[in-house]
Amino acid sequence: MEQTTQQPARKKRILSCIQPSGIPTLGNYLGALKNWKTLADDFDGAFAVADLHAITVRQDPAKFRQQITSVLALLLAIGLDPEKSILFIQSHVPAHSQLAWVLNCYTQFGEMSRMTQFKDKSQSHADNVNVGLFAYPVLMAADILLYQADLVPVGADQKQHLEIARDIAQRFNTLYSPTFTVPEPYIGKQGARVMSLQDPMKKMSKSDPNPKSFISVFDAPEVIVKKIRSAVTDSEGAVRYADGKDGINNLMGIYSCCTGLDYAQIEAEFQGKGYGDFKAAVAEAVVEELRPVRERYERYVNDKAYLRDVAAQGAERASRIADRTLQKVMKKVGFVLP
Ligand code: TRP
Repeated sequence: MEQTTQQPARKKRILSCIQPSGIPTLGNYLGALKNWKTLADDFDGAFAVADLHAITVRQDPAKFRQQITSVLALLLAIGLDPEKSILFIQSHVPAHSQLAWVLNCYTQFGEMSRMTQFKDKSQSHADNVNVGLFAYPVLMAADILLYQADLVPVGADQKQHLEIARDIAQRFNTLYSPTFTVPEPYIGKQGARVMSLQDPMKKMSKSDPNPKSFISVFDAPEVIVKKIRSAVTDSEGAVRYADGKDGINNLMGIYSCCTGLDYAQIEAEFQGKGYGDFKAAVAEAVVEELRPVRERYERYVNDKAYLRDVAAQGAERASRIADRTLQKVMKKVGFVLP
């Protein structure tokens, strides 16, 4: 109200990244990507393919290359507009690696050792507990801080990393002078946490060895129907949301995200009907939800020239912002600028 004069209030900047490690699942889509589109309309958005993060686990070069392009095409397919938001590939903006090194020197070994994702991943990749895996949250902090992001949409598994990014920003600001915006987590409206179709106590994951446990955003309609039909439920036979009905709760959550109906409305719709009918409806809703994404994706992924343009334009816009922040940092630390 008080800002009657001066510049119009700047739109808040929101930044998020997705790793190009495998085809995203319905869980990634409903839990994160679908919201990016809405956020991009309300905020000043920057969205990146976090390829540098992906090499903390071993990648097959040919597959990796293809996945990076594929995820960029997916960002377009979910409806992000490269004219409006900044869409880029992390490694195309060298400032990420550069700032990450500097911030490594402002992050304590003890802090990183406490990261639960590091502890988990060093167990699941026990043969390759590399230093990059350890320092991964610092690179993520660099991603965020370079763009002076106000808001970062994060799932539960990334909250601790965002917390560290805030600590690093505050520490640097206090040691020198205000340099970084301290980012806030952005918690979406419906905390869509999609669970495995085969073990609804576990989060849906693309790395699950059982492909029936997850739906990939590019699964064909008949595959989606089959997977949902074989989803684990319970023996009660009533479509209602309740403790102990994890399978049904999960399907209700998915259905709710796709249709916008709340649980009471869903219960009313399936009153007196069995799980067969309900599963058919869920499958139909998921198929229709993903259909436009898959169709647009197929168009974009084959248009290599367009993808190259999008990436080049995105990298240029991203670099302009990132380089400004990096320069400030280098200067404050005392480097001699080139
Ligand atoms: N670590 C995130 C993940 O695995 C991806 C990511 C990298 C990210 N840099 C980021 C997310 C910056 C938000 C902001 O999901």
